[in-house]
Amino acid sequence: MCGIVGYIGNRDATPILIEGLKRLEYRGYDSAGVAILKNGNLNLKKQKGRVAELSRKALNNGMSGSLGISHTRWATHGGVTEENAHPHVSQDGKIAMAHNGVIENYVSIKKFLESKGYSFYSETDSEVFVNLIAYHYEKEDEDSPTRFFDSVRKCLRHIEGTYGIAVMCTECPNELVGARKGSPLIVGIGDEEFLIASDVSALISRTSNVVYLNDGELVSLKNGKLNLRTTDEEDLEPEIQKVDWEIQDSELGDYEHYMLKEIFEQPTALENAMRGRFTDDSSTAKFGGLNVSAQELRQVDRILFCACGTAWHACLVAEYLVERYARIPVEVEYASEFRYRNAPLDKHTLVIVISQSGETIDTLAALRESKRKGYKTLAINNSVGSTIARESDGGIYQHAGPEIGVASTKAFTSQLHIISMLALYLGRLRDMSYQDGVEYVEALKKAPELVADALKLNDQIEEMAAKYKDMQDCLFLGRQDMFPIALEGALKLKEISYIHAEGYPAAEMKHGPIALIGNECPAIVLATQPDIHTKLLSNIQEVKARGASVISVVNQSNPMPEGLVDDQIVIPDCHRSILPTLASIPMQLLSYHIAKMRGCDVDKPRNLAKSVTVE
Ligand code: G6P
Repeated sequence: MCGIVGYIGNRDATPILIEGLKRLEYRGYDSAGVAILKNGNLNLKKQKGRVAELSRKALNNGMSGSLGISHTRWATHGGVTEENAHPHVSQDGKIAMAHNGVIENYVSIKKFLESKGYSFYSETDSEVFVNLIAYHYEKEDEDSPTRFFDSVRKCLRHIEGTYGIAVMCTECPNELVGARKGSPLIVGIGDEEFLIASDVSALISRTSNVVYLNDGELVSLKNGKLNLRTTDEEDLEPEIQKVDWEIQDSELGDYEHYMLKEIFEQPTALENAMRGRFTDDSSTAKFGGLNVSAQELRQVDRILFCACGTAWHACLVAEYLVERYARIPVEVEYASEFRYRNAPLDKHTLVIVISQSGETIDTLAALRESKRKGYKTLAINNSVGSTIARESDGGIYQHAGPEIGVASTKAFTSQLHIISMLALYLGRLRDMSYQDGVEYVEALKKAPELVADALKLNDQIEEMAAKYKDMQDCLFLGRQDMFPIALEGALKLKEISYIHAEGYPAAEMKHGPIALIGNECPAIVLATQPDIHTKLLSNIQEVKARGASVISVVNQSNPMPEGLVDDQIVIPDCHRSILPTLASIPMQLLSYHIAKMRGCDVDKPRNLAKSVTVE
């Protein structure tokens, strides 16, 4: 939620900030703004809507200067207006700040500042925040060389809530200050320049050397030096890390949308998830960063998977795969529910969180709560160096590359693949035989090729999309490990095409959703499992009997009887451990084409953000 970028160096900051904001737009796109400091003067431009509009306004107005901050907003406090857009500027015009996060005690701070004569032009908590910095700035010794930095640090002691901030001061034209608590912040160390951003994608075109800030840390970037401190005044040695992406990884190339590009990147993403992760005899998986021994894992008698959104659907698949192959009982929780539920967990429970971004606030809070209670925690995560990756006891990186489209596609199937590998690994630590392990590994290795085959359905699904694009409602039905895929199919469709869609266990449909069924509400039935094929056939009959169209997703060896369904999507036959991944492909393609045909903004659906860093 919200993206911030700051720049200090000897180049023109405006185009660098705008380029960075464009790469962060997936974090929010209600409004955007940029502030540039030049010769002690603050030049501020804000705009409702997308960064492209801000870009025209800022670049055409010749905004220039080598120190600046910028922001793309996902509204929390206050509506989508130019006044509420960031950066915010203190009443005395001296301090400007871009903020990502939510200040929980802003009402009491606002009252305090009002009693000191401050007034406010916006409805935001961030404007209160920047004025509190200004208040502390006025109290600091005018001659102190660290006046600005100290005023930010002192202000932070009074702030409750979350923040990633980039701040500058008109009286300190050589200094950019950043700080974080709960919202990500990364410093990029470039060629005689520094950048601050919410995410590496905004920095990667200028540098691959980064410092990830931890909660409670502040950074001053001044005269070519980076000073890192805690809010408790402890000086820290910055740990510089190298980012292993290339700028091309986050570019659109020949694709019309990131979502389509990422759908087609799935074979590669699965290859990357497996690289170096099988034993030499190819009978099981191995993971370098688990930090949990085989002995410890054998003691585990329950696994709790926690996540939000699409990653939560991956957790549901984990329930089926881990229980089936490793015979370990699994529970799945929404991170947002778990964190406040104070659930009693058995002492041999292992907690695994799944997060593409590694920054989702509820998932992070669930992880912290589990750690606080003394549970071992692992994370399946796509963002190297993210907060969740750093705070979990161990984990497995997805290596799926940057995912820019707000609707998750390749990150989801890469999570499924890792879950499948994990189920194998845990299974082999228990009862799964060597031979079954070898067959399982063979199946996993075939997945990229089979996904590439499933992607050949693109043209057929595009035609199908034209037929169904005007539907008002849609039901996605599946049983067992196809139930989470039905949920994910429904989520994909509703989030990018705004068609009402529900995912349901196919048999449960009779307990309610069947009332929706009719010629206005088609059903998409995932009928891919041979063992329950006849059950799904009956469910399809029930739907057809009520006049609804049915699209079935089947595998090659188990098609539906001639004439039963209206449309059929045939995916390749495969081992059960990779079926959820394969069945996801047509769901993604169908949603994509329907949304595109309806003229929706596929990569930036309304009201959504990719990285949800507020509760
Ligand atoms: C948002 C995104 C989803 C994502 C979810 C969890 O809702 O739009 O695509 O699945 O957050 O994000 P995470 O980064 O934790 O996987």
